[in-house]
This record gives sequence, structure tokens and C-alpha cells, in this order.
Amino acid sequence: MVVVPGLRLNNGVTIPQLGFGVFQIPQEQTQQVVEDALEAGYRHIDTAAAYGNEAGVGAAIAACGIPREQVFITTKLRNGEHGSASAAFEASRQALGVDVIDLYLIHWPVPSQGLFLDAWQALEKIVAADGARAIGVSNFLPEHLDTLVAQASIVPAVNQIELHPSFQQPGLCARSRALGIAVEGYSPLGQGADLTAATVSELARKHGATPAQIVLAWHLGVGNIAIPKSVHPERIRENLAAAGITLRPDELDAITELDSAVRIGADPAKAAFTQM
Ligand SMILES: NC(=O)c1ccc[n+]([C@@H]2O[C@H](COP(=O)([O-])OP(=O)(O)OC[C@H]3O[C@@H](n4cnc5c(N)ncnc54)[C@H](OP(=O)(O)O)[C@@H]3O)[C@@H](O)[C@H]2O)c1
Repeated sequence: MVVVPGLRLNNGVTIPQLGFGVFQIPQEQTQQVVEDALEAGYRHIDTAAAYGNEAGVGAAIAACGIPREQVFITTKLRNGEHGSASAAFEASRQALGVDVIDLYLIHWPVPSQGLFLDAWQALEKIVAADGARAIGVSNFLPEHLDTLVAQASIVPAVNQIELHPSFQQPGLCARSRALGIAVEGYSPLGQGADLTAATVSELARKHGATPAQIVLAWHLGVGNIAIPKSVHPERIRENLAAAGITLRPDELDAITELDSAVRIGADPAKAAFTQM
């Protein structure tokens, strides 16, 4: 079985650098898909209260027979619950059926709401009470990170952001890393759209690999945490096997050159997302 490297976060907790995302997987399908992922060898699952499938993730973790401490679980605080983060955390913990969440993230900064500092204080209390092993943020831009770090007792362990070959956010990655915050790439395959780039196909041919494996090997090679999603067992296995592929520095650079700075998802500066 392929060995997924561990990445040490700023508080000493280790996160598997390649994980499995469950966004848009319907609740009724989630248990089976997560069981497939755990059977394939993933030991890091990324969900969110807003995905509506935490209970499916929890059911898979309970059923799989893998000791709880061997599976890293991330979930996220909904945008409409920044003012009630402690209760939202309890609801996630219950839905997942676990005592401790490995990584709890503020899903979006929602700057128009002006509540992410309040939410962060609640997350710091959750860590103090041993409810979460690490806390972090998602979709935070440099100005949100700076505001947070100026007030926080705990520096976020992770910033989970949209990140794939055609949208790399180099400035945000550099700012996050300068603050000691690990960069986690969501939509790491560009939701499939980045798999047809000629550079990616060429490297895939050269390495006897698939385009998805090349893109994921690039993430790992440049130091990102990556959390691809698939509902198909063969792709689930294919994506995990990317951890066994090492790209040379010039090959990493060739993919880095594909950045066209065009987002797929919402812009965190403008997005309100109060419905999530
Ligand atoms: N924090 C946030 O705001 C946020 C936002 C978006 C996503 N996320 C997280 O990031 C995770 C991944 O992002 P994502 O789901 O948006 O996009 P993604 O992982 O980049 O791409 C998923 C898409 O690619 C397809 N795919 C997967 N493996 C493939 C392969 N080997 N070959 C060809 N196609 C493949 C999937 O189809 P099939 O399923 O049909 O295989 C699906 O359509 C999410 O599940 C979630 O955990 C976080």
C-alpha cells in the first residue's frame, strides 16, 4: 500500500498530506464512499457541517474497524454559526460520533458579517477543552489572516483554499506559510477541469500515470495538503496512488506555469454565503 506523507502542523499535530474530500456527496451515499476511501488507504477525511454528510462520514468511521486515532477528521463551521461556534461544534461532534475532531475550520471568513474573530475565540476554547486537536481557517485572504493573527492566541494551523494548477494563489500561499499556516488545496483537480492541460497529459504519459495522479503529485511536491473527491472506487484508489509518484523540480515548475489565476469557486472577499 502506498505511504502518504505526514505534514507537521504548527502545533505539532501531523496531518496526512493527501486526504479525501466529501463535498457534494449525498448523505445516503457518504458512508459507502468513505468506507471505500478508508479501504483504499486514505486516513484523512474532509467534511463540513454545510455538506450535510457528517453523519455518513461518522458511520463509515464507526464501521471500518480502523482505530479512531488512525483517521484524521476535518470538519468546518457553517457561515451562519460564527456567533454560536461552540454549539455548532457540539452538533458536528455528535453527527460524526467522535469525542475529538482532529481539525476544525472556520469555513469562510464572511467579512460582511464581521464575526470571524468571535468564532475564533470559541475555537480556541474548544482546543483548550481538548475537543479539537487543531483549529484553522478556510477561504481566508491575506487581510483576513492578518486581522485574525493580530488578535488570536492560537495561530491557525491550516488555511484551506481553492488551489489547483490553473488557480494557485501564490501570494496567499506565501502569506499563509510566512505566518506558519499550512496550505491545504481544495478542488485540487480543478474539479476535473485541470486534467486536460497538455503539460499534465505529457507528464502523465512520461510517468505512466494518469493526469489526476500528476496533478496530485504536483500538490504534494510543492508542499500542499490536497483533498481530492471522487465517488468512484477506481478513481479513489488512483488518486491515492499519486503519493507514490515523485515529480522532478523542472516537472513541478512546468505545472506551476499553468496558473491562469481564474477561480472556479466563490471569491471570499465578496461571498456572503450566510445560507451555508
Ligand atoms: N473549504 C471549502 O470552501 C471547500 C470548497 C470546495 C471543496 N472543498 C473540499 O475539497 C474537496 C475536493 O474538492 P472538489 O470536490 O471541489 O473538487 P476536486 O477534488 O478537484 O474534483 C472532483 C471532481 O473530479 C472528478 N475526479 C476525481 N478523481 C478523478 C480522476 N482520477 N479522474 C478524473 N476525474 C476525477 C470527480 O468526479 P467523480 O466523483 O465522478 O469521480 C469530481 O467531479 C471537497 O470534497 C471538499 O472536501 C472545500
